[in-house]
Amino acid sequence: MEAAIRLEGLTKYYGRDRGVVGLDLEVLPGEVFGYLGPNGAGKTTTIRLLLDLIRPSSGRALVLGADPRTGGPELRRQVGYLAGDPALYRKMTGRQLLTYLGHLRGLDGLGPAEMLAERLELDLSRPIGDLSRGNRQKVAVVQAFMHSPQLLVLDEPTSGLDPLMQREFYRLVAEAKEQGRTVFLSSHVLSEVERIADRVGIVREGRLVVVEGLEALKAKALRRLEIHFAGPVPREEFAALPGVQDVVVEDGLLTCTAVGSIDRLVKAAARYEVTNVVSHEADLEELFLRYYEGAGDAA
Ligand SMILES: Nc1ncnc2c1ncn2[C@@H]1O[C@H](COP(=O)(O)OP(=O)(O)OP(=O)(O)O)[C@@H](O)[C@H]1O
Ligand SMILES: [Mg+2]
Repeated sequence: MEAAIRLEGLTKYYGRDRGVVGLDLEVLPGEVFGYLGPNGAGKTTTIRLLLDLIRPSSGRALVLGADPRTGGPELRRQVGYLAGDPALYRKMTGRQLLTYLGHLRGLDGLGPAEMLAERLELDLSRPIGDLSRGNRQKVAVVQAFMHSPQLLVLDEPTSGLDPLMQREFYRLVAEAKEQGRTVFLSSHVLSEVERIADRVGIVREGRLVVVEGLEALKAKALRRLEIHFAGPVPREEFAALPGVQDVVVEDGLLTCTAVGSIDRLVKAAARYEVTNVVSHEADLEELFLRYYEGAGDAA
């Protein structure tokens, strides 16, 4: 099976500034691939290279088997692209812009864009410049999906969308996957990619540090937990649980770090009267540190 995206030593320097360095990656057809990294890591650079908006310093990218540089309109028609900071014609209404883009992509009029706009509760009759940031983002989402492309390349697609609309967007991704399309999307939110991706690549300072299946990633996920009890609880009992670290008990409040499954911890807690549980996902930096320390060991 030919990869939907293949990166071979893909490297981009902006003058002397590092964009991305030596990326090797294969994204399979039908896969939802989450591209995760903090600000400045190189996500947008990678995506712009895939779209031939910038050119590699060395190495190469293949998109649907073609070189993005020579793929031309043929390739473009098969790719849906959502830019990190979408530049849209502000004077046009959503309907005008989407109709125009639809024509470019061989659609007759709005095509599926009408239905997509409805699902995202986007008003197509207003000039794009008058829309709120979240609503402009919806236009960007609709234009990426409207021609049912084989491959979706989405740069932080949920940024600016409220939680309800994010959920609708996740549905769109799930449907695209069901139809056998490939989705490559960037994010800096671990919980988001955990939710929708089959595999995750973590990029840090221009390099791919980790490429993992979701299960493996979850098994290593760190979570900070706060468990509030009605009365005091014995610290030792919790500290002895496998995968539970940094246990602190103050009065009825237990805080700890849990690695992977929290099942045992929850069951241990349930033997006392629990009044509240708060869980925070670890930030990316902590996740990186774990990968560097443990080199893949989930202990
Ligand atoms: N046009 C440019 N000229 C010079 N350096 C650039 C340019 N575009 C990006 N860079 C640099 O390349 C690196 C990667 O940037 P990139 O925009 O790809 O990061 P990102 O992962 O998309 O970050 P964010 O989460 O903030 O969107 C950064 O150090 C950035 O400063
Ligand atoms: Mg970016």
